[in-house]
Amino acid sequence: MPEKVYFVGAGPGDPKLITLRGKELLESADLVIYTGSLVDPAIAAYSRGEVINSYGLSLDELTDLMVDAVYSGKHVVRLHTGDPSLYGAICEQIAALKSHDIGVEIIPGVSSIFAASAALKTQLTLSGVTETLIITRPAGETLESDSIRELSKHGATMAIFLGTSKIGEIMEKVSYPKETPVAVVYRASWQDEQIIRGTVADIAEKVRAAGIERSAMILIGDVVHPKSFGRSHLYGSQ
Ligand SMILES: C[S@@+](CC[C@H](N)C(=O)[O-])C[C@H]1O[C@@H](n2cnc3c(N)ncnc32)[C@H](O)[C@@H]1O
Repeated sequence: MPEKVYFVGAGPGDPKLITLRGKELLESADLVIYTGSLVDPAIAAYSRGEVINSYGLSLDELTDLMVDAVYSGKHVVRLHTGDPSLYGAICEQIAALKSHDIGVEIIPGVSSIFAASAALKTQLTLSGVTETLIITRPAGETLESDSIRELSKHGATMAIFLGTSKIGEIMEKVSYPKETPVAVVYRASWQDEQIIRGTVADIAEKVRAAGIERSAMILIGDVVHPKSFGRSHLYGSQ
């Protein structure tokens, strides 16, 4: 009897951006529980088993579903958007399963942060520009306060998840020079992906004009549109 649940990173959207291991586990799953609108149903459809959207389920309901399935000998996959380690809320699920003596195995996925940098055809760390990437999110319904103001003082690349609807407030808060490049990548790797480019001064208005309010990654810093950069030592000094 399987005594674990597989937490699989679904990738950023494109059904081909799941790992081979993730796809194999889906193909042999009896039950797939996936998270909301950012997982393409085509990914869950790699499974021939039962597929449930976890949107609106409480932690207890979700846990009961997984525990019942595991104890009836079913192979269960919990599918999370991007990589489960970023804003995935998996630790409470792992703890709840553990209290029923059920373990987990986590299969990483391609985070939307990497799909967004791929869409921009840039690097998030770039020699001569910045060696540092800050990942964060703004305060909101489920987070009382954030550290965006303090974090922005480092001048590093900043990737902001879950922030599209607050982009105006975020741009007011950050300490980057107003001309610093910013890109908002909507639904990176999906068919309807959109890239909005601007600066700290004007990106909020451009995003508002495009009607984008969610499902996007905000990337701030000179790496978004590098004017110059140092050559990496990787390819030698010539
Ligand atoms: C709950 S978080 C999940 C992040 C996910 N674990 C990951 O690694 O991408 C949801 C947020 O991730 C970002 N996101 C997820 N998929 C995206 C995509 N395909 N393109 C751009 N941003 C995306 C958005 O900021 C969205 O509000």
